[in-house]
Amino acid sequence: MKYGPIIYLGVLTALVATWFGFVAVPRRQLAALGPDVSTNAAGVVVSYPAARSGEAAQGRDIYLSLGCSACHTLQVRPESGGSDIARGWGKRRTVARDYLQDAAPLLGSSRLGPDLANFGERLGTNAFPLVRLFAPRQVSPGSICTPVPFLFETRPIRRGVPSADALVLKGAAAPESGNEVIPGRRARQLAAFLASLSTSVDLPEAPLPVAAETALK
Ligand code: HEC
Repeated sequence: MKYGPIIYLGVLTALVATWFGFVAVPRRQLAALGPDVSTNAAGVVVSYPAARSGEAAQGRDIYLSLGCSACHTLQVRPESGGSDIARGWGKRRTVARDYLQDAAPLLGSSRLGPDLANFGERLGTNAFPLVRLFAPRQVSPGSICTPVPFLFETRPIRRGVPSADALVLKGAAAPESGNEVIPGRRARQLAAFLASLSTSVDLPEAPLPVAAETALK
């Protein structure tokens, strides 16, 4: 085994180099990253990203547990890397700072459905349509988005007066007559998480397009 020490040194070098490349260098680049603190137009100091509300934070766990990431990403690629911005999935690419509040970022790797990094912005001032979770095809005909009816309760209409929270369902998704479908706590939490998704904040490392134009003037 006259090459023993050389092989040993080679393996050791490979391990140390990998540790530097995958642990030490990224840590140096990202460990000091903190929230972006700025003053908004109303003179209020805001910090981005803000912690999610309790309901949205629980919704994130539900999103994770139901495997939504199998078909949806939460990352907008830069213009040079794809058509995400042209498709309206975000105003700018996502960067490491966008995920500061997440213990484990849910980047996702396959996109059978649209990217959801800015889904909350697409909702605008509308409330999240809970029907989308119970029966996606009512919102988007032919959709392959996974229905999650177990987050809802189907119950008899009480005293002949339907609840204000009951979903408006048509066709095969409608409950038997005399029954109604009510969103459960977990459906509301998941909806709160989806509505909270938004990254359109101007950051030094990823300026919003309008801010970038103004900066050039
Ligand atoms: C089998 C793949 C698949 C899975 C799993 C899946 N989706 Fe979808 N989803 C889609 C597709 C395809 C669309 C686009 C068609 C549509 O609008 O329904 C979509 C659309 C959506 C939209 C609307 C996006 C927009 O821009 O309008 C939301 C919100 C959504 N999915 C949430 C979820 C949630 C929450 C889960 C987990 C419970 C989930 N999806 C799981 C495939 C999937």
